[in-house]
Amino acid sequence: MDRLDVTETFHSIMFPGHMHTKDSLNYATNFKFQDTDIVIATYPKSGTTWMQEIITLVLRKGDPTIAQTQPNWARAPWLEQYYCADVLKASTGPRIITTHLPYHLLALALQHSKAKVIYVARNLKDVSVSYYHFHKMANFLPNPGTFSDFLNEFLKGAVHYGSWFDHVKGWTSHAKDIQNFLDVTYEEMCQDLHGAVQKVSCFLQCPLTEDELNLAQKHCSFNSMKENVMVNYTLIPQKIMDHSQGKFMRKGQVGDWKNTFTKDQSRLVDDVYTSQMPDSSLLFKWEC
Ligand code: A3P
Repeated sequence: MDRLDVTETFHSIMFPGHMHTKDSLNYATNFKFQDTDIVIATYPKSGTTWMQEIITLVLRKGDPTIAQTQPNWARAPWLEQYYCADVLKASTGPRIITTHLPYHLLALALQHSKAKVIYVARNLKDVSVSYYHFHKMANFLPNPGTFSDFLNEFLKGAVHYGSWFDHVKGWTSHAKDIQNFLDVTYEEMCQDLHGAVQKVSCFLQCPLTEDELNLAQKHCSFNSMKENVMVNYTLIPQKIMDHSQGKFMRKGQVGDWKNTFTKDQSRLVDDVYTSQMPDSSLLFKWEC
């Protein structure tokens, strides 16, 4: 088999409708990666936008001009969204490509590729709370109901882009099958942003001086990104993302789940985590 057909492969995963056509999904799974491509793979709400910003700044040695004048979706388009091909056509320099697709849908396209793949993972309790709030503001996603309703759907994988467990296990367990792979956690970026920017710059073979690193770090901080209209999604029309219902740059913290979860919900997630991730060597930080 040298080509994937979406009708067979996508039936079990839900996609946020209008952004994903059958053609755009076929385009993604059969994408021809270039060796110079940089791919950001994430489950939603795991630090995707943050990594888009870090890479933008690393490639420009901390110069924020592009980060402050070009929206993130135009400099690091989502592979599975209908506009990706057009954006990439206009791209100069190394292409930054973002995806929420699970590994198995890109395995064929990435086989033999030298593209640099960065997988960002975040602990699932914080992801579930962040995703819940995102559902409230993103009008292309269904009404999440109560947090308890949403958490049940989330744990079953009955949300857009499917199961967090399958996503994280899929990408991290195939790290060895991808020639150039780096995994980073949201929590390590929070704990040591300077170190995370440096780690990304080493992986991309784009060394930065200490001053350049400090500049990149400054523009990737939560407060800076929260104010940057090119990444805070306030440019998106209200009928698509309703900022009166919440902010995209919401809290940016590790352990915020504690403000939402009950003790029972926390225990339930711990139990599901233990049963779903028995062999995982991944160590998530659940609080700071
Ligand atoms: P919260 O909703 O918990 O605040 P994604 O880009 O994958 O959709 O992830 C969005 C989450 O990343 C949101 O989490 C957002 O606030 C957080 N985020 C974005 N930029 C950040 C930064 N510079 N520092 C910390 N968190 C950031």
